[in-house]
Amino acid sequence: MNGDRFVLAQISDMHLRADDGAHADNLKRALRQANEYSPDAILLTGDLVNDEGEAEYAALADALADAPAPVYLMPGNHDHRARLRAAFPAHRYLPPEGPLSFAIEDFPVRLVAVDQIVPGATHGEFTPEQAEWLDAALGAVAYKPAIVALHHPPFLTHDALFDEIGLQRAEAFAAIIARHPHVIRILCGHRHRMVVGQVAHAPVVAAPASSYVYGLALREGQARGVKTSESPGWMLHVWTARGGLASINMSL
Ligand SMILES: [Fe+2]
Repeated sequence: MNGDRFVLAQISDMHLRADDGAHADNLKRALRQANEYSPDAILLTGDLVNDEGEAEYAALADALADAPAPVYLMPGNHDHRARLRAAFPAHRYLPPEGPLSFAIEDFPVRLVAVDQIVPGATHGEFTPEQAEWLDAALGAVAYKPAIVALHHPPFLTHDALFDEIGLQRAEAFAAIIARHPHVIRILCGHRHRMVVGQVAHAPVVAAPASSYVYGLALREGQARGVKTSESPGWMLHVWTARGGLASINMSL
């Protein structure tokens, strides 16, 4: 890596299970594919495991053992903060208590991840405390471009299920982003399908899941939350000082 280029692999919604290795195999496959592009960092945008279980986090640690770059872990609505933290003691960017929000300063683009899950719930909520944290984190280093990451899409995806279990107080999130013009992209997961949106000036990419793809319930009466046989995937985000940031959809 030099200061003019940054390659980020984003893998989302792995949903690892203790009783079935298929999703771990998908994750390992994504990591092998990512390795071809020499990533500087790997960001996992939540739903790391399926049922908040310790054995699942052990399976995740195992699957990540040969990761080709530093891995940064974010919780999703299927995760358990304390168990996640306990399973990855070497991940010192994770705060010792409370929400697992963090900012990474090691790259020419900052990674600012905000944990907005609601323990025990499927939807997310951007609380006033998280708004304060994000505003301060983004304000701390305004001379570098920043990527902001969260689990729930901060915009309406127009899917009946995922908008119902989406991000509450998204307007507060938009108000913070609007105050920080150096935010060049917002990354999220949760939707299990690639969707592009916008919040204030910043494009938002909801990554595909590496586990399985959900269909779309757009019209009244269409089935919600249907798992499809479409290929899962992951995202490669490539930034250069001259060329800016491109977000590339990769299929497994
Ligand atoms: Fe998920």
